[in-house]
Amino acid sequence: MKTTLTKRMTFCAGHRLFNPGFSDEKNREVFGDCANPGGHGHNYVLEVTVSGEIDKDTGMIINLKEMKKIIENEIISKVDHRNLNIDVDFMKGVIPTTENFAQKIWAILDKSFEGKLLNKVVLWESENNRIEFSR
Ligand code: NI
Repeated sequence: MKTTLTKRMTFCAGHRLFNPGFSDEKNREVFGDCANPGGHGHNYVLEVTVSGEIDKDTGMIINLKEMKKIIENEIISKVDHRNLNIDVDFMKGVIPTTENFAQKIWAILDKSFEGKLLNKVVLWESENNRIEFSR
């Protein structure tokens, strides 16, 4: 039996989807309105799931306060109200699709949750689109 615990957090960020190696026409063909030069924003929802044993002394898999602090420090504080193309070091040189963004978030959090297994990262770009990375 596996027990998981999921923390949901929200943030706003802007981005523009384009490949600098493509012509303007090709970018428009591939990314549509998402390639508009001025960019646009999303209200993202991030769901982070860890799995592990329930600690006998605390009754918890991980203290939610600690989990929130890790996600806040490692991700939210770096991306909230930022432009993913310009302001976010871990997104430099990466097309800020939800796929690439979620993959970076996974890699960062996987290192951050010492001893607690990161089980899943779900990143909702809108209420209709989400990307999942899981073990
Ligand atoms: Ni977008």
